[in-house]
Amino acid sequence: RKFGLNPKLIFALLYFSSLFCAPLAVPNSFPVVSCPTPCTCSYRERLVNCSNRSLRKIPVIPPWVAILSLKNNKIGASAVKDHTFRNLPNLQELDISDNDLRVLNISFHGSPLLHTLRLESCSLESIPYIDPTGRPNVTTLALSHNAITRIEGLSLWPALLILNLSFNSIRRIHSNTFVKQSNLTQLYLHKNNISSVDEHAFAGLLSLETLSLGRNKIGIGRHGLKHFAPSAVLASEQQGDPCNGNLRKLRFLDLSRNRISRIEPLTFNGMCQLYTLLLHDNRISRLLDASFYSLKALTTLRMDDNR
Ligand SMILES: *[C@@H]1O[C@H](CO)[C@@H](O)[C@H](O)[C@H]1NC(C)=O
Ligand SMILES: *[C@@H]1O[C@H](CO)[C@@H](O)[C@H](O)[C@H]1NC(C)=O
Ligand SMILES: *[C@@H]1O[C@H](CO)[C@@H](O)[C@H](O)[C@H]1NC(C)=O
Ligand SMILES: *[C@@H]1O[C@H](CO)[C@@H](O)[C@H](O)[C@H]1NC(C)=O
Ligand SMILES: *[C@@H]1O[C@H](CO)[C@@H](O)[C@H](O)[C@H]1NC(C)=O
Ligand SMILES: *[C@@H]1O[C@H](CO)[C@@H](O)[C@H](O)[C@H]1NC(C)=O
Ligand SMILES: *[C@@H]1O[C@H](CO)[C@@H](O)[C@H](O)[C@H]1NC(C)=O
Repeated sequence: RKFGLNPKLIFALLYFSSLFCAPLAVPNSFPVVSCPTPCTCSYRERLVNCSNRSLRKIPVIPPWVAILSLKNNKIGASAVKDHTFRNLPNLQELDISDNDLRVLNISFHGSPLLHTLRLESCSLESIPYIDPTGRPNVTTLALSHNAITRIEGLSLWPALLILNLSFNSIRRIHSNTFVKQSNLTQLYLHKNNISSVDEHAFAGLLSLETLSLGRNKIGIGRHGLKHFAPSAVLASEQQGDPCNGNLRKLRFLDLSRNRISRIEPLTFNGMCQLYTLLLHDNRISRLLDASFYSLKALTTLRMDDNR
């Protein structure tokens, strides 16, 4: 009994051999199996952590990785090669935040499990382009603190649930920008430079629950809040059920710290599930009849610091 093998040890040995022996058996498809030199790894979590290493190049990434961090380095777009993130069959989360990418054209062919991609503070000038062939269904795309001026190319990201575009330089939301985003539940556009919101801007957002538009310039100029939410667009196209239109699931709407001076009748028409509406720090001086029509679920309304 003294010399018997501990079943836990046997299991650990088997587990490690499954991690390493399989790749060794097919060396051509898996060139590197161990932890890349500048990084730290946790084999249990399948984590490769290369953050904070002043890297200019991306090390060869082992194929067993599930969570990969390249955060806070000196990686430029030219260091992201076509093959860099391909054929990582276990990759689920990738963080390249705090680098200097500017423009990114990226392929995840052969990495079908990727669901979270973080590219915060990367000086990005546009939403990254993703190779459509073999593209994974990314559900969380974190793009805050960049220099993005236009919301374009979202049709390549149809599975998104969370899109964070806060702290960018977006000026306008064009019609039908989000028509492919029928699963999106959280959209953050806090602290941009948005003054124009076109008609049909929010068309297609049938699952949206949280919309954050605080600290923008909505309401400036002649369109005002009217074009933020034309009632006909929010409400159902079909007659009869006004609670079945775009933004029908919206529960939280932040319009605080904008330039809104008046709220037209039926502005929020169809937002039958809206729970919290933040309108503080605007220039609202009067309310018209039916300004809050449809808001039968509302429990919190903030209107402090207006005129
Ligand atoms: C990576 O390591 C850094 C310390 O160097 C730590 O702050 C960070 O949380 C780690 N990242 C992950 C994803 O574990
Ligand atoms: C990153 O590295 C710098 C310098 O080595 C250090 O001061 C800082 O605490 C590190 N940050 C993390 C998250 O490890
Ligand atoms: C991205 O790269 C691929 C292959 O290198 C190329 O075919 C495609 O045109 C590029 N797309 C953009 C928007 O740069
Ligand atoms: C992404 O989702 C679509 C259906 O929504 C599915 O057909 C496709 O296979 C998925 N892609 C991957 C890489 O899992
Ligand atoms: C949207 O979500 C549904 C339900 O989870 C899923 O079946 C569908 O594939 C998703 N659509 C896309 C484009 O990923
Ligand atoms: C969106 O990004 C901002 C800025 O980085 C951050 O404060 C906020 O927590 C993010 N939202 C979510 C839901 O991650
Ligand atoms: C915001 O937009 C205005 C025009 O509407 C432009 O003059 C200004 O430079 C923009 N500011 C930033 C920080 O992008």
